[in-house]
Formats: sequence, structure tokens, C-alpha cells
Amino acid sequence: MAFTYFFRDMQTLEMIRDYVISEMRSSRYIHIWDAGCAMGPEPYSLAIVLRENMGMTFRNVKIHATDIDSSNLFGDIIKKGIYPREQVQRIPKDLFEKYFSPADEPDHFIISEEIRNCVSFTKHDLLDLKPIRSGLSLIMCKNVLLHLKAEERVEVLKMFHDALDNGYFATEQTQKMPEQLSDKFEPVLANAQLYRKIG
Ligand SMILES: C[S@@+](CC[C@H](N)C(=O)[O-])C[C@H]1O[C@@H](n2cnc3c(N)ncnc32)[C@H](O)[C@@H]1O
Repeated sequence: MAFTYFFRDMQTLEMIRDYVISEMRSSRYIHIWDAGCAMGPEPYSLAIVLRENMGMTFRNVKIHATDIDSSNLFGDIIKKGIYPREQVQRIPKDLFEKYFSPADEPDHFIISEEIRNCVSFTKHDLLDLKPIRSGLSLIMCKNVLLHLKAEERVEVLKMFHDALDNGYFATEQTQKMPEQLSDKFEPVLANAQLYRKIG
């Protein structure tokens, strides 16, 4: 089962809060792609941060979570939104109390319906190079590209560029933008892996 947990990367979530949300707010429909979402803690963490910081405009947000999902289980897990205690332990206490409640199964917790309704899951292989849709405001793809060959990474990033509508791309701290794509993405901050689409 893929390694992931809630609020795995607080720094990226804070950058999205500080630099991306203000621009997204002006869009009527806000489509976000979480590519390589595993069993859901990442898109749900993002949804919680957006709910906390967007007020009523959160209603316009749709997070399209995708993964190659070799287990064939992610769709069900994400739809139910029920997670064991060990996966929710790093969620800030106030957010955990606000957005989770005990599930029927002992030591499991269910995410609030409002957050569950914001995230949908589709099985999708990035190497097919077919974007899930166009006009995206944000693509998040973390701890996935490192598994690809260098030339595959470039093709996937070009696909992301085409799918974005003057939006943003977030990846993990150790992932560097390939040199040949410097005319397609510019870093929002030095030493941070949040990029704005250009070109
Ligand atoms: C380590 S997990 C990362 C999960 C989450 N993004 C995070 O950072 O916590 C890597 C995920 O990438 C997915 N993955 C690997 N190759 C992929 C591909 N070609 N297309 C889509 N997803 C892929 C795996 O199935 C796995 O769920």
C-alpha cells in the first residue's frame, strides 16, 4: 500500500494557502488535480486547508484525485473517507476535532461530508499522458515523479502545463524542475517547489 498520511507536507499546504488561494478565489469553478493521491490523505488535507481559508468560495472547489492504484482499493477508501487512528495522528488537533468524527469501526475516524464531497477519485496512469481535464487552477503531484524516468517526467510535466489555466504546480521539496521546462514554469519562491505556469 502506498506510503502517505494526513498533513504530510505542511509547508506546501501553507504555500498554497499563502500564494494560490487568493488567485483561485476569483474563478467561478476551481478545478484541482491531485495526481498520485494514494488512498486520499493528501487531497483531503488540501481540501481541509482550502475549506479553512476560502470561506464560501470553497463551494466552487472540486479536487480530482487520481492514482494508478495497483491495489484497486483507493476509490472505495476515498469515497468512504474513513481512516485508522495512526493515519490521522498528525492532523492539527483543532482541525481533527472540526472535520473528523468517530466511525462505526473501533479506532477509525470519518471525514465530514462537506470535505468528502469536494474530492472525487479516478484511476489514472500519468504515463498515458492524458490530462483528466483542462482549465485547472492547481496540480499537486508529490512523491510520484521520482518513480519515473527523466524523459517520462518531462512529458508528464508538459501535460500538466497544458492542463493548467494560468495556474500552479506543487511538488515535493526534493523534486527539481527539469532545465528544459524553465520557459513553462517559474518558481513562486526560491527553494520552494511551487511553480506558476508561464508560456
Ligand atoms: C508515495 S505515494 C505518494 C502519495 C501522496 N502524493 C503523498 O505524497 O503522500 C506515490 C503514489 O504514486 C502512485 N503512482 C506511481 N506511478 C504512477 C503513475 N504512473 N500514474 C499515477 N500514479 C502513480 C502510486 O500508486 C502511489 O500511490
